[in-house]
Amino acid sequence: MKPTLRVGIIGGGLMGREAASAFARWFVLNNFPVQVELVAVCDLQPTLLDWFRQIPTVKLLTPDHHQLLASPEVDVVYVAVPHNLHEAIYLDVLAAGKDLLAEKPFGIDLAAARRIRDAAAKSGRFVRCSSEFPFLPGVQRVIEWAQSGAMGKPLEVRSCFWHSSDLDPTKPANWKRQVRTCGAIGVMGDLGMHVVHVPFRLGWFPSRVYAQLQKIYHERPDGKGGTAPCDTWDNAMLHTEVNIQGIETPMRLEMKRLAPGATNSWSIEILGTDGGMRYSTAEPKTLWKFDRSKEQWWSRTDLGFQTPFPTITGGIFEPGFPDCFLQMWAAFAAERAGALGNRFGCVTPDEAVRSHELFEASLASHAQRTAVIPG
Ligand SMILES: NC(=O)c1ccc[n+]([C@@H]2O[C@H](COP(=O)([O-])OP(=O)(O)OC[C@H]3O[C@@H](n4cnc5c(N)ncnc54)[C@H](O)[C@@H]3O)[C@@H](O)[C@H]2O)c1
Repeated sequence: MKPTLRVGIIGGGLMGREAASAFARWFVLNNFPVQVELVAVCDLQPTLLDWFRQIPTVKLLTPDHHQLLASPEVDVVYVAVPHNLHEAIYLDVLAAGKDLLAEKPFGIDLAAARRIRDAAAKSGRFVRCSSEFPFLPGVQRVIEWAQSGAMGKPLEVRSCFWHSSDLDPTKPANWKRQVRTCGAIGVMGDLGMHVVHVPFRLGWFPSRVYAQLQKIYHERPDGKGGTAPCDTWDNAMLHTEVNIQGIETPMRLEMKRLAPGATNSWSIEILGTDGGMRYSTAEPKTLWKFDRSKEQWWSRTDLGFQTPFPTITGGIFEPGFPDCFLQMWAAFAAERAGALGNRFGCVTPDEAVRSHELFEASLASHAQRTAVIPG
């Protein structure tokens, strides 16, 4: 009999429901050592709680997260609420003796991230932070290649996450557009963990950052006939330096809510003197590889479904967001059970704190128009 991971969700909005759907499809995983069961959900909105009634394993629906945390049926809590609530709820989860998959960012700012990391270490609970794109087959190939040394001498790295729906000025404001609820780091808090996860795991931590931050729309419709102020950063370009094989290498990190034409495009490009790789979720099956001998060429591989955790899905089928999100949860469950092996794991609390050190340094860099050392 496999052990069962009994999950409670706090925040049943966009991501809470995405998590529920990942658990409902858990049987896609082949010979996975852990079962999963969604047992409790907390949200303030009754209509959202109603949505979860269609899941037979859910026994507790509540607007009070303390009630969810008091349940002995819950082992692990996934928290997907606005950023201003992260710290208080994450600390409540740890105080209740539960393990945690935290949504990013890891608290609203650096001070909060450090407090959460310290509380996690003190509690001894298993804590990770969400970032799913590295679990796509194309990204796994880029990571393996980067670790193989095939790039030769490193030339440059670019890691990006681009959205475009905010280009529409009639899109109503929500909590992600305001510093009070999203955080002063703005788009870096929304999209930043996604762009640093792979470089950080490869050991590429910026020693210096020069940041260009942009606020384009200062107000939006509030959805009730009026307007609401929008004071978060829309776009962030971080020009950083990282040490790869002892060589100071430029790494650009791009987080954009205003990227013309990009719906939810995560991409990475790594270039060296002997080889390069490029992958974007805009073309989820396509892996670009650069090689040179007498001539130089970029070759295109049509990828299949080679996920880190094997599934029953046909090996030639194409992967998408729900697949990498499920794979991320599998990595969380496997690592918690001591069965991750040498596979890629979820963001650790230390990595999450380092992301905040970078974003805080980026705020200072932009304000001072100078390069800043994170940390
Ligand atoms: N991993 C990803 O790809 C990804 C994508 C989008 C958002 N996120 C992150 O997920 C988190 C949630 O974002 P979202 O897009 O799902 O937001 P959302 O607004 O769709 O959902 C947030 C939910 O939290 C609920 N909530 C607010 N206060 C609460 C409280 N005190 N107790 C219980 N529930 C409460 C709201 O009612 C809402 O349903 C954020 O941290 C965000 O950055 C991650």
